[in-house]
Amino acid sequence: MKEKVLILGGTEFVGKLLVETLISDQSKELYLFNRGKTNPHLFPNINKIIGDRETDDIQKIQAHKWDYIIDFSSYYPASLQRTLDHVNRDLKKYIYISTISVYDFNKYDRASSIKEDFPIVDCSPEEAIDQTMKTYGKKKAACEAVLKESSWLNSVILRPSIIFGIDDPTDRFYYWLRKIKKETKAIVPNDGTDQISLTYANDLVAIILKGISGDIQNGAYNCITHDSISFNELLETIKKSTDSNCEFYHKDNEELRAQEVFLPLNFISNLYYNNDKIKEATNLSFTTYENAITAMVDHFEKEEWKKCMIEIDDEKLIS
Ligand SMILES: NC(=O)c1ccc[n+]([C@@H]2O[C@H](COP(=O)([O-])OP(=O)(O)OC[C@H]3O[C@@H](n4cnc5c(N)ncnc54)[C@H](OP(=O)(O)O)[C@@H]3O)[C@@H](O)[C@H]2O)c1
Repeated sequence: MKEKVLILGGTEFVGKLLVETLISDQSKELYLFNRGKTNPHLFPNINKIIGDRETDDIQKIQAHKWDYIIDFSSYYPASLQRTLDHVNRDLKKYIYISTISVYDFNKYDRASSIKEDFPIVDCSPEEAIDQTMKTYGKKKAACEAVLKESSWLNSVILRPSIIFGIDDPTDRFYYWLRKIKKETKAIVPNDGTDQISLTYANDLVAIILKGISGDIQNGAYNCITHDSISFNELLETIKKSTDSNCEFYHKDNEELRAQEVFLPLNFISNLYYNNDKIKEATNLSFTTYENAITAMVDHFEKEEWKKCMIEIDDEKLIS
């Protein structure tokens, strides 16, 4: 008997990559639940349940008895609860894609790296239904609470940092790849020593696959797949991979902000996360920055470096 896997989402970024990876797994019967808005042309041969999870459409998932559910599209606790209300109680595992934004950074003193038991933010009833990104971390924290309170449920909560990979719809990482590949000058925030924490989409998929093979115990896991890296180190690695002559110009963040320039990836920096728990649970060794960047560069090379949706005129800012 094949195991039935439901992916809530599955057509944009990490979800898409997961589907591409799982598609050839003969031991699984794959279903996607989404609105059919994002990349509807994808995966014509996969079972699709079309619906908006913020409405009663979610009842449609009740028609099946699932072994695993992987949830990419849950941002509101009430909607997650409604989803669980329609799930068979003998589900083997519910894998929830959360975020490191659930942590209460006000309590972070930088003395050590953030582990999974670090305090997470509270979410008021008003914030739980707020539709802005301002309350993103709070709502995700409230979603995690819904899972933890469902005593019948086996749930694995994955907390990635900023995710990078080829299908990232935000172009946050692609901006730097393209800038360094195509241009001769690039503005770098501050002195370039600010550290960023990242999650590689392919490694996150590898973690999820471990989750649906039963290897990961219930609980929450930081899914930062790389040690934090400074802008300088990251951009130098990209420079090497793209065989570029791009020169870097450092500019103070305050100055950039005053000019309303917001460099991609230049936020939530200098926070350190401990990823021992996920490494121990999965026994995975994650892709190095060099290999991940090289794979992405090769991909975009073949795509002839599509236009980036983030445009910053570095020449103008330097002069
Ligand atoms: N990107 C990051 O840096 C980052 C960092 C940390 C955590 N995360 C988490 O990663 C998750 C998103 O991952 P992804 O974009 O890679 O997932 P994905 O599964 O590739 O794409 C999102 C999916 O959600 C579906 N969807 C959106 N709204 C829906 C709705 N109301 N009802 C039904 N389906 C809906 C979309 O399809 P339709 O539009 O067709 O409905 C699409 O298939 C989120 O939970 C986010 O919090 C992201």
